[in-house]
Amino acid sequence: MSNPDAQPAVRVSKLSYVGFETPDVARMTEYYHGVLDFELVDSAPDGAFLTTGADHHCVVLTQGEAKARVAVGYEIWEDLGTAQQRLSDAGYEVERRTDIGPGTPDVLVLDEPGTDVPLHLITSQDPSGVRDTPPLRPTKLGHVASFTPALAPMQDFYQDLLGFRWSDTVGDFFVFLRCNADHHAANFMASGKYQGMHHIAYEMRDPAHLITMLDRLAANDYRLHWGPGRHGPGHNLFTYHKDPDGNTIELFTQLDVIHDEAKGYWEPRPWHETTPMGPRTWEVDLATVNAWGPVNHEMLDH
Ligand SMILES: [Fe+2]
Repeated sequence: MSNPDAQPAVRVSKLSYVGFETPDVARMTEYYHGVLDFELVDSAPDGAFLTTGADHHCVVLTQGEAKARVAVGYEIWEDLGTAQQRLSDAGYEVERRTDIGPGTPDVLVLDEPGTDVPLHLITSQDPSGVRDTPPLRPTKLGHVASFTPALAPMQDFYQDLLGFRWSDTVGDFFVFLRCNADHHAANFMASGKYQGMHHIAYEMRDPAHLITMLDRLAANDYRLHWGPGRHGPGHNLFTYHKDPDGNTIELFTQLDVIHDEAKGYWEPRPWHETTPMGPRTWEVDLATVNAWGPVNHEMLDH
């Protein structure tokens, strides 16, 4: 962060939703609803809104070319009027819209610098009305990772303007940022050759929940291309597979959490390399990307 004492224009409190364009909305809806157990809250001929729980949606599918992370929604602490003024004062073009779609009647839209992905800032979503808890449904949308042509300006934007905190960096190319107690809600990989989404991640309750879902994935012919393993940064137990459009989907559990920002370290866990353990820059070695061993080098290609 360019100035650690500066106040951000707004403070993001939660990753709310991610938008996908897909050539086959029905196929992707079947994957999310029929395989991952998300609830289909709203659908239209050219779109679908899916949720894991109380929020109206955490995944938005719209008809188009296969393209992930076409919009990212974040909840903020400020009221939208205050946020719009502060973002404008900071020199950003912000639009207040009431036509984004169901569940989010009042939205501030600003483009993410470097990618032009629209960021949707909201106070909260309308409730989904979903009350049931099917045994395999993920607990929540956890984080979204994306490529960026310029890492430092992206990190500054998220920290200085949106109130994210730095959690970890791998080498000089992969940054993890948090907006609440979870180790990361957004991560960015520097790349001169790739753009768009790197992966999106959904949280499972515990390893047993994750394993049971892996059996459902296998029964539906979805195979892992990495994991299970344990990452260094965040220490989440991870698995990766591809959705029907080829987007990389992570299912994870046991992500590091920071309950006390003043203390500045993650809640201690037996698998931590040091105690106490807080944000750091990791060397690029095998144990960093998977403490358990196997590495999928494609996942680090940038
Ligand atoms: Fe991840």
